[in-house]
Amino acid sequence: PKKRPLYGKHVLVTAGPTHEPIDPVRYLANRSSGKQGYAIAAAAAAAGAKVTLVSGPVNLRTPLGVDRIDVGSAQDMADAVKKALPADVAIMVAAVADWRPRDYIEKKIKKRGSAPPALILAENPDILAGVAASTDRPELLIGFAAETDDVVENARKKRKSKGVDWIVANDVSEDVMGGDDNQIHLVREGKVEHWDEMTKQTVAMKLVTQIAERLTEDA
Ligand code: C5P
Repeated sequence: PKKRPLYGKHVLVTAGPTHEPIDPVRYLANRSSGKQGYAIAAAAAAAGAKVTLVSGPVNLRTPLGVDRIDVGSAQDMADAVKKALPADVAIMVAAVADWRPRDYIEKKIKKRGSAPPALILAENPDILAGVAASTDRPELLIGFAAETDDVVENARKKRKSKGVDWIVANDVSEDVMGGDDNQIHLVREGKVEHWDEMTKQTVAMKLVTQIAERLTEDA
């Protein structure tokens, strides 16, 4: 194998949660730390790729040699991803919020004497499905699937319905979100690999190795 197996390739990675604003001081979010996505961006850069990392709000340092674009909401992330294409590979690791508050309130909502305010939600765009359907679809498109039950079966369905090449599925019912370790299933067409639990860095390095192999297979 070559020393810098992704040299000359543009790799796009999304990572972290999104923050969906309610008013100037409040938002909806999830427990994603961004660690797995950042580890993948770092591993791809170390393998010689030009890496664009579209990142939701996280407390992590930008990996060496990675071009980082910070975003807040899912809509911001969708716009940044569109701008970052084309790419040879896209790995969509971000835990994008499925819903946002339908109405953004321009001023901080005041506590009233009466009932608490109701939160009405609207659906966010599916960034991954959008990339899959676009004319800029990367040669290799990889999605993540955070599940708490029927992990592999749901991932298989998701791979097809979203039109992606690979799904990296993980069980997030334990302390995966925010933790340093991950245990994943790599779901491809007609093939599922179950990986042992390992650090998110090791998952990232092994994934990058497989990506490089896949790209050279097709070359
Ligand atoms: O459907 P689900 O959210 O489980 O799919 C997860 C995959 O889809 C992840 O790769 C995630 O980054 C991506 N996704 C997205 N935009 C959304 C929801 C999920 O890109 N609005």
